Amino acid sequence: MNFEKHILVTGGAGFIGSNLCVYLVHKYSNYKIINLDALTYAGNLENLKSIENAQNYVFEKGDITDESKVNALFEKYKFDAVIHLAAESHVDRSIRNPLTFVNTNIVGTMVLLNSCKHYWQDNLEDKLFYHVSTDEVYGSLGEIGLFTEETPYDPRSPYSASKASSDHLVRAYYHTYNLPVKISNCSNNYGAFQFPEKLLPIFIHKIKNGEKLPVYGDGKYTRDWLWVEDHCSAIDVIFHKGKVGDTYNIGGFNEWKNIDLIHLLCDKMDEKLNREIGTSRESIIFVKDRAGHDRRYAIDASKLSNELGWKPSLQFEEGLEKTIDWYLANSDWLENVTSGAYQEYHKEQYGNVL
Ligand code: NAD
Ligand code: TYD
Repeated sequence: MNFEKHILVTGGAGFIGSNLCVYLVHKYSNYKIINLDALTYAGNLENLKSIENAQNYVFEKGDITDESKVNALFEKYKFDAVIHLAAESHVDRSIRNPLTFVNTNIVGTMVLLNSCKHYWQDNLEDKLFYHVSTDEVYGSLGEIGLFTEETPYDPRSPYSASKASSDHLVRAYYHTYNLPVKISNCSNNYGAFQFPEKLLPIFIHKIKNGEKLPVYGDGKYTRDWLWVEDHCSAIDVIFHKGKVGDTYNIGGFNEWKNIDLIHLLCDKMDEKLNREIGTSRESIIFVKDRAGHDRRYAIDASKLSNELGWKPSLQFEEGLEKTIDWYLANSDWLENVTSGAYQEYHKEQYGNVL
């Protein structure tokens, strides 16, 4: 079959990457999606079961820091574009083990940029390196204000510093080597297939099991939440219509203080689990704060909506309901990833080829 484009998606077995692969494979039968993922603890092929046999999809196990593997894939598939999501993505882990973040997020991005430069140098037309980044590169806001594309970078955790560094390298390759690039910086995502170490899935899991709910610090830290499928649609719009060399902020105009969000989540889950409303709130405990905890993130996504016409499709309460329903309906998924049994799944399913 002839495909119009061969697109390398890195990190496609993770939370956002798997949602994006499913989105692209269903929407663009004329594109071949090649998913490169190292299957770290955060990568899970179960997320991709709905597309694993699709004609326009293929999985390749590999590490983005492995130059020979990446080059071999460029030789094999002749990529027209890269959408780069592979990363170490959890702030708490970055505090305990920063070097892993430097390796994957900075060195890994460099390896990909170098391969793009090498294989595309004779014809840059219609090529694209799309870098998926985070609002955390902008640092921490006070009570007011929003991050715009002009906000100076001020990363404050090893995670955000490594992502900021990768963003700078992507821009450097645009300016120095004319590599066609686009960058988007998105706010906190929520939805199906998120590894239960991030706030919403871990709290859903704990509420379901009646466990204590550890809120960092005073709980008044603020995040701007976006449904993951709306992030995917934003990437789609920017990939196709965004200006080469530009950056786009993506967000839901949807700020929540952690404690208010947790109260809402507790009450909605009580309702769904037929518990008396207020039961789960009793499990909230305030614990030692995260080191260097950023106080507030909030995104101004007006460039994306004004220039490219993108808008989030879901109201937050609707998205939260869908998310809770998904984790409750997919308790096997949750049990598997929390027990480690999902690694057995990888071996059984792909043991011969991985
Ligand atoms: P995730 O941790 O769920 O998934 C990361 C994926 O990358 C996993 O499948 C993992 O196996 C893979 N990976 C890790 N190291 C690798 C390596 N060396 N080689 C190949 N694959 C590797 O992360 P996520 O939440 O889906 O985030 C994806 C991207 O989006 C990241 O770049 C992150 O910085 C960015 N982002 C995330 C959010 C969010 O709220 N989750 C918000 C904005 C931006
Ligand atoms: P997280 O999902 O780790 O995303 P990020 O740190 O990238 O924004 O955390 C979201 C917010 O929830 C953040 O302010 C830290 C807080 N948090 C808790 O209070 N308790 C927890 O157990 C976790 C995982 C996060």
